[in-house]
Amino acid sequence: MSTSPASDRHIQLNPFGQLRHFLSIDGLDRNLLTEILDTADSFIEVGERSIKKVPLLRGRTVVNLFFEASTRTRSTFELAAKRLSADVLNLDISTSATSKGESLSDTLLNLEAMASDMFVVRHAQSGAPHFIAQSVTPGVAIINAGDGRHAHPTQAMLDMLTIRQHKGRFEGLVVAIVGDILHSRVARSQVRALLTLGAEEVRIVGPNTLLPRDAETLGVKIHNDMRSGLRDADVVIMLRLQRERMEGALLPSEREFYRQYGLTTEKLAYARPDAIVMHPGPINRGVEIESAVADGPQSVILNQVTNGIAVRMAVMSMAMSGQLAERQAAAETQASK
Ligand code: NCD
Repeated sequence: MSTSPASDRHIQLNPFGQLRHFLSIDGLDRNLLTEILDTADSFIEVGERSIKKVPLLRGRTVVNLFFEASTRTRSTFELAAKRLSADVLNLDISTSATSKGESLSDTLLNLEAMASDMFVVRHAQSGAPHFIAQSVTPGVAIINAGDGRHAHPTQAMLDMLTIRQHKGRFEGLVVAIVGDILHSRVARSQVRALLTLGAEEVRIVGPNTLLPRDAETLGVKIHNDMRSGLRDADVVIMLRLQRERMEGALLPSEREFYRQYGLTTEKLAYARPDAIVMHPGPINRGVEIESAVADGPQSVILNQVTNGIAVRMAVMSMAMSGQLAERQAAAETQASK
């Protein structure tokens, strides 16, 4: 299962360079990421109307295929698809045939037989959405809603939209990502998106036991100390301790982690006075963030959730039109033969 940037570009884009699947930020250039943000911007207004609908996916069927727990991501994908006028099927995996032993490929074949146009996939295994994109019937779009520790590209893009709204740019920004980077698919996608969009400096801050072993190759600066890690940062992104992905004891204790890395009003003062505080959720108050900060004036955590709808609308509509353009071109080539 290859997930190198070159192969990611190849599988995610149609021959005209348009998005057809959205699996990871790898392999996508600044123009495409900016197009996603601009398209999302145009959808924000739809969420403010009394009738929150546009007909872009009318008659299309979107299947939310969540093999892992989710609150924000699943509900904002569902709202996004509905606001695009799609028919939406939420597959509850715990009550589906998977628990009766059906394989992923067989589940998919059955869903495809119901003429689905798009699968939104969350899976505990890194690479599962890539695998599906490689084997799915041509014309069906796959959107990654988080795979293992690998990628969570729509989360990264809603974070980029939130940063652009508050800071107006990426150039010159210093961004600190704090906490459990090792297990975080969100952090990996954020780092790629920030560097592609031109952020000046991306720092990862945490104890060595929670930093990835390939950290140096990611193009980020590594800090084990909050004071130096947050100094003059424009954006502070906090992450949850992903206990479900930890093997063995990596931490002394939650109390010790909070003492060193928990974002308190006191530690936030190391960052720029106009720094924004972000978190993909779910937040653990008193573990990685103090309530006064999570609910405070610098927090944009709930803006991130709202932006998730617009970004997911953008990605779904772009992938669907990329698929259609490709099919249309193939049909025309066939007809001219
Ligand atoms: C994140 C995830 O599932 O990767 N949450 C989210 O999608 N909003 C982060 C997490 O679970 O900590």
